[in-house]
Amino acid sequence: MPDRAPSAHASIADATEVTISAGGRPIIEQATFDVRRGEIFAIMGASGAGKSTLLRTMVGLAAPSRGVVRLLGQDPYQMPGNALYALRRRVGVAFQGGALLGALSVIENVELPLRLNTRLDPATIRIMAHLKLELLNLRDVDGLYPSQLSGGMAKRVSLARAVVMDPELVFFDEPAGGLDPQNAAELDTLILKLRAAMKCSFVIVTHALDSALAIADRIMIVEHGRVLALGTPAEIRALDDARIAAMFGRTGSSSVTERAAYLDRLTAGL
Ligand SMILES: Nc1ncnc2c1ncn2[C@@H]1O[C@H](COP(=O)(O)OP(=O)(O)OP(=O)(O)O)[C@@H](O)[C@H]1O
Ligand SMILES: [Mg+2]
Repeated sequence: MPDRAPSAHASIADATEVTISAGGRPIIEQATFDVRRGEIFAIMGASGAGKSTLLRTMVGLAAPSRGVVRLLGQDPYQMPGNALYALRRRVGVAFQGGALLGALSVIENVELPLRLNTRLDPATIRIMAHLKLELLNLRDVDGLYPSQLSGGMAKRVSLARAVVMDPELVFFDEPAGGLDPQNAAELDTLILKLRAAMKCSFVIVTHALDSALAIADRIMIVEHGRVLALGTPAEIRALDDARIAAMFGRTGSSSVTERAAYLDRLTAGL
């Protein structure tokens, strides 16, 4: 498909010259980018670069000190509380670390957004939560508590909870964080499967370069709070900026054939 000008793409979320301050200093400076409907948009960068901070601002949880954020076409910081509430229901978030409630079982954690945001009856809510658990290869874990889950399972439960309301856009902070390569690859498969099944868009924050190159439509690299690069995997790989080259130098698998092989492996089970 020929590349089109950015204005020809439908934006599902965007930031214009966004600066975010915390503790009296700028954490993100002058960030401008758009996330397009249907795409998997990866945010990469070293620890402390400001990725989670940016994500919190994108989802409407922390206002920027300068600039404008739009979520599903609207500025979450310029709308009345009830409208923001309605907007947030169309967006799913899986926070870094999972943020599962330890006192609730797996099924209760996944049901929570439906219980808080809808008037559906408990039996319907249970069925809907079950469907998402099954979609995420989680069977027979309903009664377990978060402390009893493996790292990979906890990530998937957190993702199930983020998508239980069938959001149009899902933010996922560190899907692969702390996981072995096999579990990380399984999450990549599941993200692709969810996008195909639910026709949603994803913003994923990740340190896993192989994963970003394989499943993301575009990658944005943040360094010390600034957008260092933004482009397709091929464009990012072609950049010769020394700092980006250093990031890529850490991985041995960056060729187009290896990307295709990785995707083949991931999608074999779909
Ligand atoms: N509320 C806050 N007050 C002061 N400093 C903060 C606050 N929130 C974040 N920071 C600082 O902002 C910087 C970026 O933090 P952030 O959590 O966004 O990084 P990150 O890119 O997500 O890192 P990681 O990859 O380790 O998750 C860090 O130096 C952090 O200490
Ligand atoms: Mg983070």
